[in-house]
Amino acid sequence: MKQLSERIRGVSASRTVRLSGVIDSLRRQGHDIINLGVGEPYEAPFPDILSKTTAALKGGETRYGPVAGIPELRNAISEKFDGYTGENILVTNGSKQALYTALQVLCDPGSQVIIPRPCWVSFCEQIKLAGATPVLVDTKAHQLDCHAIEKAINADTRAIIINSPNNPTGAVYPKEDLRAIADLAWAHDLYLISDEAYEAFVYDGWTHRSLFDFPHIRDRLIVAGSFSKTYCMTGFRIGYAAAPKEIITAMARLQSHLTGNVCTFAQHGALAAARRDPSHFHGWRNHLQKKRDMTLEMLKDLPCDTPRGAFYVFPDVIHCLKKNESAEDLASEILQRVNVAVAPGEAFGGDGHIRICYAIEEKRLIQGLERLVQVIHQRTGATAP
Ligand SMILES: Cc1ncc(COP(=O)(O)O)c(C=O)c1O
Repeated sequence: MKQLSERIRGVSASRTVRLSGVIDSLRRQGHDIINLGVGEPYEAPFPDILSKTTAALKGGETRYGPVAGIPELRNAISEKFDGYTGENILVTNGSKQALYTALQVLCDPGSQVIIPRPCWVSFCEQIKLAGATPVLVDTKAHQLDCHAIEKAINADTRAIIINSPNNPTGAVYPKEDLRAIADLAWAHDLYLISDEAYEAFVYDGWTHRSLFDFPHIRDRLIVAGSFSKTYCMTGFRIGYAAAPKEIITAMARLQSHLTGNVCTFAQHGALAAARRDPSHFHGWRNHLQKKRDMTLEMLKDLPCDTPRGAFYVFPDVIHCLKKNESAEDLASEILQRVNVAVAPGEAFGGDGHIRICYAIEEKRLIQGLERLVQVIHQRTGATAP
């Protein structure tokens, strides 16, 4: 019997994507599912983004374009990175592809890549697809443990992946910790991949800190950015990598054989987004912070560190689990019994937790949390307030 490649057999399907499949099928059966499991804002993109996209589509932007992205968009993105030009930017099919391509370009078989755990679902599988090995290093109260990261470095270590604000925990790493990681990468001659897909979502007056703020490591830094969450454009599939030109050239070479250019008219929508005045985030951010606070309040029986960024809470549910039960079992019971989808922590290497996305419409969020709390109270024997 013929077998598929060892490479693909070693890779598991994204659990959050699988969850979306289950939700779709339950919805088709007529269930009113409240989806707190999938990480995307519910709002539509701004009208100017839509009108520029459709104008480009109607205006004939429907052909192959430059592999690395349309020059106007590359230039517009580069303005965020002091000293960079469009040649330092590769436009990709979501930041997911920027991360995949970066790992393909940086790793050899046998390389190791360090990731703080819990972490986003695709990092480990993307590392394996590059022939390398993921090395997971536990965080402490969801913050970086720089000492443990240093201890995990060896002669095979090629890169460290940092994701702040973090999915699934919502943790935002302070500047001092990012500096410590930058110094480690410099001292041990490692690459750094900084996944900043949630850069726009930082609360409580905190500011987003990028690893790009440290000039001494820019020769080894790849920043992966995204239009998906920041501009409610998840379906457009627009992300980018910002890096030294040699790295971008190598990544573009791979992209030329993989997908070619990213959808041309979608890039025109992204260009409109990149040109927007960032002040439009203020109201939205405040509203998300309010929804985060409400979520934490409604789930106050579950231990949870206050997440300062992204749009997730990642409470500990261990005390709600029966003997030999996992958070995945709990998530499945919540979905079947009260039709609320949450992502099990196991998907992120965070066993005993569930991830709740609060970026959905407020009314639905409240309904979803009320239903979820019912199950939690039944399990813990607590009475509803
Ligand atoms: C941490 C993180 N990085 C990258 C991505 C990929 O996003 P996209 O490919 O839509 O830019 C996601 C999506 O959920 C994410 O949570």
